[in-house]
Amino acid sequence: MAVPIQSVVRITTRRLASDLDLGKDALIDILDLAAQMKRAPSRFAERLKGRYLALLFEKPSLRTRFTFELAIKQLGGDSVASAGPVAGREPVKDVARNLERWTNGIVARVFSQATIDELAAWSCVPVINALSDKFHPCQALADVLTLREHFGDLDGLKLAFIGDGNNVAHSLMLTASRLGVHVAVATPRGYEPDAAIAAQAEGRVTITNDPREALDGAHAVYTDVWASMGQEDEAAERVGVFAPFQVNEDLFAQARPDAIFMHCLPAKRGLEVSDGVMESPRSVVFDQAENRLHTQKALLVAMLG
Ligand code: CP
Ligand code: NVA
Repeated sequence: MAVPIQSVVRITTRRLASDLDLGKDALIDILDLAAQMKRAPSRFAERLKGRYLALLFEKPSLRTRFTFELAIKQLGGDSVASAGPVAGREPVKDVARNLERWTNGIVARVFSQATIDELAAWSCVPVINALSDKFHPCQALADVLTLREHFGDLDGLKLAFIGDGNNVAHSLMLTASRLGVHVAVATPRGYEPDAAIAAQAEGRVTITNDPREALDGAHAVYTDVWASMGQEDEAAERVGVFAPFQVNEDLFAQARPDAIFMHCLPAKRGLEVSDGVMESPRSVVFDQAENRLHTQKALLVAMLG
């Protein structure tokens, strides 16, 4: 007997400017829908028929660009992408009011969160943050689906994020903790997550400068580059500061023996992660990358479908 297709997502927002825009019910529904789409993609092949999206990229991308373009095509829609500054030739508010006349939604990867907020404020079509300096909510969606697939249930898990208190850490703190995951972030002193963002987490978040404290009892160990896009000038200085935070075999062994290794990618082997940990059988980094596609399809249907 055919399983009925989930059609209702308890989503109340027309924007995903940050992880704060998705409540717990919406998150659960998006994960459930993404799981259905992963199992039976052909059943959703027309859900965005006749819908067109603008994809704006101020920064490079492999995963985000491919998965959004493919997600839209697999749902029967289409997109037009552009690379370069959103506000290169005219103000963001004018870009927003042009794009809303031609498209059904805007996906944007930007240097400044203010650009996403401005696009969302001035456009009447949905706006999705495809990474800013502050958040990476689409990555967090794929990550919680990956955790749920691996462990079956999110409630009661501990995820240790080791490294820079950056956009990816912020999104995990908000999204994973809202679903019952204890997010323990360990950073060098001075590189902690934004305290104002941490204060908005609805679930359990702890911040420390001791990686071993974060790793104790962790089911998942997550890291990301030490210098994000836009911080290239600081990369050399950060190598020394972050060296004790490299997720190598010794540090990974401080987590639970069955802990998985996670990374949003791209990874710099020999810096934030050793080659051995990246290539270990407990590394789920390519599952995360695959799940970008499925969770973004669910998100697009929820916001536009
Ligand atoms: N993880 C991620 O967002 O990868 P890209 O920078 O390649 O899009
Ligand atoms: N923190 C990284 C994530 C890349 C997907 C960056 O912003 O460059």
